[in-house]
Amino acid sequence: MRALKTLAGLVPALMIGVSTGASAQTAEVLHWWTSGGESAALGKVRAAYTAKGGTWKDTPIAGGGNARAAVVNRMIGGKPPTVFMFSIGKQLDELAEQGLVGDVNDVAVAGKWDAVLPPLIAQVSKRDGKYIAAPINIHGENWMFYNTAALKKAGVEVPKTWPDFLKAAKTLKAAGITPIALGGEPWQERILFNSVLLGVGGRDHYAKVYGQLDEAAMKSDTMLEVFKTVAALREFVDEGSPGRKWNIAANMMMKGTAAFQFMGDWAKGELVAAGIEPGTTVGCALAPAKDKGYIMTVDAFAFSNVKDKAGRDAQKLMASVIMDPAVQVAFNKQKGSIPVRTDVTDASFDVCAKLAMETLKDTKAQLASSGLFGLPSSVSGAIDDAISNYWNNRSLTPEQGRDLFIKAIASAK
Ligand code: GAL
Repeated sequence: MRALKTLAGLVPALMIGVSTGASAQTAEVLHWWTSGGESAALGKVRAAYTAKGGTWKDTPIAGGGNARAAVVNRMIGGKPPTVFMFSIGKQLDELAEQGLVGDVNDVAVAGKWDAVLPPLIAQVSKRDGKYIAAPINIHGENWMFYNTAALKKAGVEVPKTWPDFLKAAKTLKAAGITPIALGGEPWQERILFNSVLLGVGGRDHYAKVYGQLDEAAMKSDTMLEVFKTVAALREFVDEGSPGRKWNIAANMMMKGTAAFQFMGDWAKGELVAAGIEPGTTVGCALAPAKDKGYIMTVDAFAFSNVKDKAGRDAQKLMASVIMDPAVQVAFNKQKGSIPVRTDVTDASFDVCAKLAMETLKDTKAQLASSGLFGLPSSVSGAIDDAISNYWNNRSLTPEQGRDLFIKAIASAK
């Protein structure tokens, strides 16, 4: 997304052409939901869109970063996808700032979205008072999934604090079980790091660091404790981690070749796709923490700034399908997330989703991901790079890691 500022700045928004849909309500949908769970979940939306007479042209691109770059390139090239999957927040705003995004406000007003969406999410889905995205879920990033048989085999309990986790990891390693299944990509390393930051520092500390980019909070002893804890985790990941995809790591945990995975609850979508009831052979808990916090990322469908009626009609139909309560239930049960509509009951959701809904009732627990939601792409990318550098360079001390983090943010602001 950092490329956006340079690329799109060169191209006046009037370059936006007609959407690639051939006939009325044909929507080309560009997305990065390519894992088993993700594509099964998207299939629920596709089925609903088709049932309403729409034609769905699927453009899957593996990897969030690749898909987001592809969206920008298609827009710049004047052949935008009708609809693209994104996550709401600052990085979608950057596209809108460049005039690359249309609105679906007519559908939102007719569907009374303001009345059914959490206020923060409604606000972040709008620009200049108009809905530029149709949000579909709330994912939590600070989840800890664990293989119950692996823990039993090593005789360890589900850890409640990070010091407990380190003890459990030592025991697991001695029992020949990889303690942590991790995909060695910056965004995955950041998710693990942020679970430690929230867990060790607490939700107020998390909000100061990522909500206010508060230097005093970053320079604090608390932050040093975070870096020390992260350093202690390095030895509990297997050598095959670098470059591993998140869903491959999820499979390791599901099979028990690794005990834990710290990942967003889209990992739960892989359990569902594999026929595993969350909370049985694989358990879920929020990552060890000193207080209740939920690091949210909200997936949405956004709409290229197309001018042709066919494209606009397809976008309006898609927006209404996304907000349909039945679609929100079917999609979220498969995706591992929870519905973004507050009027969808949790009766049919699994134990993990019920914990998510319960946690989010406390507005102080509602935290923004440092990924696509809460920060501009330049700062978010600098944070991921600094964390990845620290994680992978074992010669860096916690003090050096903290300095790297602070400098990266300062230079990206
Ligand atoms: C996130 C997205 C999730 C999941 C994950 C891994 O950005 O919000 O829905 O797709 O990427 O692909």
